[in-house]
Amino acid sequence: MADESRINISNAAEIVTARRQGRVLAVQLGFDGSELTVIATAISEIARNILEHAKDGEVIISRCNHRRKCGICVVARDSGPGIADIDQAMQYGYSTHKGLGIGLPGTKLLMDEFHIVSVVGQGTTVTMKKWRH
Ligand SMILES: Nc1ncnc2c1ncn2[C@@H]1O[C@H](COP(=O)(O)OP(=O)(O)OP(=O)(O)O)[C@@H](O)[C@H]1O
Ligand SMILES: [Mg+2]
Repeated sequence: MADESRINISNAAEIVTARRQGRVLAVQLGFDGSELTVIATAISEIARNILEHAKDGEVIISRCNHRRKCGICVVARDSGPGIADIDQAMQYGYSTHKGLGIGLPGTKLLMDEFHIVSVVGQGTTVTMKKWRH
């Protein structure tokens, strides 16, 4: 597999593909068993948000480096409705769609870095990283 993998997200099968591709790259980068599960879970939550809240978008998974650290970077972006209040969306239990409202806060806890940028009417981009220990 190349160092970067780009997966369109417009149906449930593509969420599985993104999850699997993330796992493959994470294995190549030397992440261990429990970390692989964490990374795969984070990718599926954020991809599921694309499908449920924006209908379609893409997930880009790549290797990242910072100084002597090596890790995995996941960017999930869509051109959906955007999020008006990100602080509210990040709250545990907040959902506009009768979900559990734990996808975003849970994913933030799983990853080492988590950034979300969103513009109403334009879309949402989530960038998250996990560093190898
Ligand atoms: N890509 C997105 N585009 C637009 N709104 C989003 C997006 N991702 C999240 N949101 C908004 O943020 C809220 C919180 O997201 P979160 O993933 O935490 O919960 P949820 O998706 O509603 O439920 P679940 O617990 O099943 O994930 C969503 O209800 C939705 O309003
Ligand atoms: Mg969600």
